[in-house]
Amino acid sequence: MNPAYKIIDHHYDVVVVGAGGAGLRATLGAAEAGLKTACVTKVFPTRSHTVAAQGGISASLGNMGEDNWRWHMYDTVKGADWLGDQDAIEYLCREAPKAVYELEHFGVPFSRTEEGKIYQRAFGGMTREFGKGPIQRTCAAADRTGHAILHTLYGQCVRHKVEFFIEYFALDLIMEDGECRGVMAWCLEDGTIHRFRAHRVVLATGGYGRAYLTATSAHTCTGDGNAMVLRAGLPLQDMEFVQFHPTGIYGAGCLITEGSRGEGGYLTNSEGERFMERYAPSAKDLASRDVVSRAMTIEVREGRGVGAHKDHIFLHLDHLDPKILHERLPGISESARIFAGVDVTRQPIPVLPTVHYNMGGIPTNYHGEVLTKAGGDPDKVVPGLMAIGEAACVSVHGANRLGSNSLIDLVVFGRAAGLRIAETLKPGTALPSPKANAGDAALSRLDGLRHAKGATPTAKLRLSMQRVMQNDCAVFRTHDSLSDGQKKIDEVFKAKADIGVSDRTMIWNSDLMETLEFDNLISQAVVTVHSALNRKESRGAHAREDFPKRDDENWMKHTLAWVDGAGKVTIDYRPVHDYTLTKEVEYIAPKARVY
Ligand code: SIN
Repeated sequence: MNPAYKIIDHHYDVVVVGAGGAGLRATLGAAEAGLKTACVTKVFPTRSHTVAAQGGISASLGNMGEDNWRWHMYDTVKGADWLGDQDAIEYLCREAPKAVYELEHFGVPFSRTEEGKIYQRAFGGMTREFGKGPIQRTCAAADRTGHAILHTLYGQCVRHKVEFFIEYFALDLIMEDGECRGVMAWCLEDGTIHRFRAHRVVLATGGYGRAYLTATSAHTCTGDGNAMVLRAGLPLQDMEFVQFHPTGIYGAGCLITEGSRGEGGYLTNSEGERFMERYAPSAKDLASRDVVSRAMTIEVREGRGVGAHKDHIFLHLDHLDPKILHERLPGISESARIFAGVDVTRQPIPVLPTVHYNMGGIPTNYHGEVLTKAGGDPDKVVPGLMAIGEAACVSVHGANRLGSNSLIDLVVFGRAAGLRIAETLKPGTALPSPKANAGDAALSRLDGLRHAKGATPTAKLRLSMQRVMQNDCAVFRTHDSLSDGQKKIDEVFKAKADIGVSDRTMIWNSDLMETLEFDNLISQAVVTVHSALNRKESRGAHAREDFPKRDDENWMKHTLAWVDGAGKVTIDYRPVHDYTLTKEVEYIAPKARVY
């Protein structure tokens, strides 16, 4: 162990890394089961990115008319363009109502109907009777649903006396003999290094939207858990599938919820045309996000964009009753005023598709246990390691996630992870004795970057990475854009050798922290571009102009991608689970997606 660093040791049954919706729900579950549980988080829990989720959380409560979890399952399978695992999708949709009522009982202040039931709004791709027409399935707390859920879950964790390690930056997993035995972390406040040993480490570290130049994701969304998994020699899954949300504010990239179209908002081009009627005659503005983002991109490309540069689209809410805007969409009304200078009651909002969500991530089963492919087993569980939320690829979202299926994924699988841990671990079970070098690799990496004396500042490399991702791994992709992107992103990876960090202190060293985050992002950017170039079909959010059709015969499989320390990517596959969890519902066979 490097003597320059003082190590503080901790022992827990369970350590959860990340305090967003999934992390807090799993933490709560483990604590309720009497397990000694710690939650390690780089930001204060209520500042986690879940706080930014606006429109709502899907569940077939049927408060606004009949609904059924089987219809929700059908929509999710179809939205995923048949790349989702149907056992996990069944689990998600069956458990969703239970998870939402549980949130209600914890105290989430949902908006209400006249009768006092949880209010539900329409969202893209959510239908009744297996695609017959739109349905109101998305439970909302105005347009601040994530905010309401996060604060409530944090309160519940405090009530259960969870131990939080706040503003601790997780560095790396402690892996011994193929098992996860803990995690190393750096306390930003006092500069100390912490070695957490535990029977279970649950990664709930979110997505890596910040690999792109414009994203609705917070600056903290650097996929730290995904990168730790790659460094542990484990694969990430389906990284080519990156979701663009149709309505990011033009220029700023901030989210304008899909719930705004759910409440009646619509998009127009420079001719004032409601163009979604041409692309999706039935679902129109509430088609799934991949469809709407592509339609907007085509409108701009073909010269029908709005504004001085004809490079964006208008979102109209100005026809809606100001009372509805005030009650149901107060947050985005404020964002439009601040970031676009627009009064939504009178003017359209300038919008453009913006990176929003990573369908890919750490492969897991529906219990949240991390999987790898080894010894001919494509579903081999990695002992001690779990992943949930956007960091994970369960895979319920497949090639494209439906709006409002993220918040429900967080709480259903956060809860599932808690249940699995409670079922498989007895409180206070003795931990195996640590190897003498436990955590050394994490410290060497930290120390190497802290003392990096190269000529290229981290910010410059980060910008190069973000430009490559934005330009070459975008809404539409071709062999040329992707192979050019692959060459450029590999060069950025190699340029890490010349990185320079100027601040060498340990207390609130944001230069070092941003460097660690960049190092995390670049490995994910590399596997994203390699996986995208490798997949020769169009499916969900992965739209290849040179392979415009979905190819179920050759590509109905999950991509697995590993990257080594030199940036060399290895690709393999896992089969999509073409079976359901119970006999109560049949496997939904692939067919063309029509909106
Ligand atoms: C939104 O409100 O549009 C975002 C919610 C989501 O991505 O599910």
